[in-house]
Amino acid sequence: MTSVPASFIRAHTRPERPSLVPEVQLLVAADVVALWEAMAVEQGRTAQEPPFWAAAWPGGQALARYVLDHPELVAGRTVLDLGAGSGLVAVAAVVAGAGRVIASEIDPFGRAAIPENAALNGVSGIEPVGDLLGEAPPGRGRRPGRGRLLRPDHDRAGAALPGGGPRRRRRGARR
Ligand SMILES: C[S@@+](CC[C@H](N)C(=O)[O-])C[C@H]1O[C@@H](n2cnc3c(N)ncnc32)[C@H](O)[C@@H]1O
Repeated sequence: MTSVPASFIRAHTRPERPSLVPEVQLLVAADVVALWEAMAVEQGRTAQEPPFWAAAWPGGQALARYVLDHPELVAGRTVLDLGAGSGLVAVAAVVAGAGRVIASEIDPFGRAAIPENAALNGVSGIEPVGDLLGEAPPGRGRRPGRGRLLRPDHDRAGAALPGGGPRRRRRGARR
């Protein structure tokens, strides 16, 4: 599947204000299991992953809160929200004044939800993209330059960051 209609996102979610970032609205699933089943029907096969994009993850909320409270971190910068899910952190980065926001999400449902959440909050300019790991973000060279990488959790996205990511361990180091 390459794209998901916006109507699917709107039909299976409702707007909520996450408790840590009540100034932002987010489309979240009322019934995650029913949504997961609807995703399988939409794709014509069993959904591989649960609808991460339809929940207000505590890690994402905390990072969005931090960005909103410290806009100088992103103001005027290019921001990469890696593993963007709903796009909550990307939306916060735009609100905080980021110059450009790229939202990388491997799930096509998430990539469809990101512009819907942006529109719900009256922000524009977020660029939803797919898997960037192993290649440079669009419009930039191989080195990260002066942009910001926003990554609220330590799932497989972070584990596979080019160069090992910020939690890179020395070769042979124990866990
Ligand atoms: C736990 S969710 C967090 C979503 C969002 N950051 C938030 O806090 O609300 C992790 C997300 O990372 C996405 N993801 C996993 N591997 C990825 C990759 N290689 N590139 C981009 N997104 C990825 C998953 O599909 C999922 O939506």
